[in-house]
Amino acid sequence: MLPHAPGSFEAAVPARLQGMALKVRKAVFPAAGLGTRFLPASKSIPKEMLPLVDTPLIQSAVEECSAAGISHVIIVTSRGKSTIEDHFDISVELEQALKSRGKTELLEAVERIPKLAEISYTRQQRPLGLGHAVLVAKDLVGAEPFVVVLSDDVIHAERPCTSQLIDAYQRTGGSVIALMEVPRERISAYGVVDAEPVEVGGVPRGRLFRIRSMVEKPKPADAPSNLAIIGRYVLTPEIFSSIEATGAGALGEIQLTDGIKHLAQRQPVFGYKFEGTRYDAGDKFGFLQATVEFAMRRDDEVGAKFREYLKGLKLAP
Ligand code: G1P
Repeated sequence: MLPHAPGSFEAAVPARLQGMALKVRKAVFPAAGLGTRFLPASKSIPKEMLPLVDTPLIQSAVEECSAAGISHVIIVTSRGKSTIEDHFDISVELEQALKSRGKTELLEAVERIPKLAEISYTRQQRPLGLGHAVLVAKDLVGAEPFVVVLSDDVIHAERPCTSQLIDAYQRTGGSVIALMEVPRERISAYGVVDAEPVEVGGVPRGRLFRIRSMVEKPKPADAPSNLAIIGRYVLTPEIFSSIEATGAGALGEIQLTDGIKHLAQRQPVFGYKFEGTRYDAGDKFGFLQATVEFAMRRDDEVGAKFREYLKGLKLAP
């Protein structure tokens, strides 16, 4: 049982959290949404499979997790998402064809995909919201801390954002949520936190916040701050009972934000202002920005050609 001690910080910290944090091994990828912001492409292509140059969004996010030490990825899908399963599976015919044609680099690129992590799939049968999608993974996660990744939040960072959050979790022992400052006029597109800066466990100054409350997609006038939630979370398994205790919220859906707010009343939940650049690749403009900037950064022939191309481009006045 979780202690219920609103107002009392220390008493609200389960013994497990006071000292040793468990290893974070699993990541949940909600991928059951309709992707309406990317229609018509997303009518038959899962938005998670849209590529930045040549790498599907979901592969980049699984690579980020793999680099952060995650060994088991749980993808929550729905009807029409089977290409995600094909992508992470071994393709014997393709591998044989590449081998016989001597296409070594492409073969390596293809062969490494199924090795990134052990992958399990489960289905969200009805579109009841992000919180519900995470709840669907409850049995596959079990009683251990886990990461949640929204793969349309693409984050370019020297140190993967997921590694930054796991490090903060190890130092604090509490759930940790990625935060980013956004302009007031854009705040209604996000979950927004009410939080105060804290210093715990040597986390770099100014990055860590203790979360008092949070609200999903508030009107600008009602937003408690300009600190928005970005799609990377490390959550303790108590989140599942918190989501179960949460009814439908914004947009009539079971919101992960409401579940975390409930959790924050029972145990410490932190926000972490991560280092890096975030792109909203689920949005057409954000996807274009990410495509251009990722293509520019590539250190291969495509990158070199693209940089040359950009230099010669006549930009509109
Ligand atoms: C989701 C979350 C929201 C978060 C956002 C980040 O919203 O519900 O709290 O701020 O991701 O991208 P969505 O963008 O799926 O509407």
